[in-house]
Amino acid sequence: EANLYTLYKGVYVPNGIHTPDSLKYCEEFTFRPDDVVIATYPKSGTTWMQEILPLILSEGDPASVETVPNWDRVPWLEETRASILNLEERPSPRMLTTHLHYNMMPPSFFQVKPKVIYVMRNPKDVFTSSFHYYNIASFLVKPGPKREFLQKFLDGKVIFGSWFDHVKGWLSAEEKQHIMYISYEEMIKDLYGSVSRISQFLGKHLDAGVIEKIADRCLFKNMKNNPMSNYSVVPQEFMDQTKSQFLRKGVAGDWKNLLTPEEAEQFDAVFKEKMKDVKFRFAWD
Ligand code: PPS
Repeated sequence: EANLYTLYKGVYVPNGIHTPDSLKYCEEFTFRPDDVVIATYPKSGTTWMQEILPLILSEGDPASVETVPNWDRVPWLEETRASILNLEERPSPRMLTTHLHYNMMPPSFFQVKPKVIYVMRNPKDVFTSSFHYYNIASFLVKPGPKREFLQKFLDGKVIFGSWFDHVKGWLSAEEKQHIMYISYEEMIKDLYGSVSRISQFLGKHLDAGVIEKIADRCLFKNMKNNPMSNYSVVPQEFMDQTKSQFLRKGVAGDWKNLLTPEEAEQFDAVFKEKMKDVKFRFAWD
């Protein structure tokens, strides 16, 4: 971990894409009230939302999702790209992404309270997606054997720390009117309904035909063919998609193909303990 990761406010961040300068830029960032922020724990549906959100705000016009890579379209605030994109000059409403925990958000966030779409996913599937992804991204520590990686994941010794803390933090945000909670599983079950719910939250009233068009573009099979969203323009030395693809399976419940019943039980026991005070009803079983 020592040379690939930096410990930032108690969580690991990969230093290939996070530098002291980029983190400082993020801390000093000034939000606008009409910014829209996608917040996620990694592997929870970030890229998916980076496709949905621009399409909603453009009322279905695909120009940006067809010409701008997702990391410039909805840039991560804490990553090095953000500081060179001149976000200060971008027209409103700006779209931003973050993997930061709620309590790590910059001061301006708590003053301005921009809208946030917080996407959550069954942590056993987050684990599964991460296990494959950590193998192909050169800026991440190799996962090693599954059992070891499972322990690391449960202990929060992976990038952006503990899934449990991340979700608990965002769920216990003091003011919730500006935060919309949605799950990957809900989006799998009913993408049309999800796009419609997000549009309403953003105050965008779209015709049924437009919502349908957006939902169709954001289907896994269609996004997989979008070079601006499937990470195919990233050089192989950073991400080796010959081993596993970034848009890998795109389903709910793939953990069943990775975890033994005993490992799943261990996972559930940790979940039960860590999430015992959380009242939220999660959309997965
Ligand atoms: S990252 O690295 O944090 O930005 O990753 P993130 O985008 O959050 O998560 C990647 C997983 O999301 C899946 N994905 C999708 N699933 C269904 N439909 C669509 N359109 C879609 N787009 C991305 C992607 O395949 C990863 O999950 P797995 O389980 O590995 O397939």
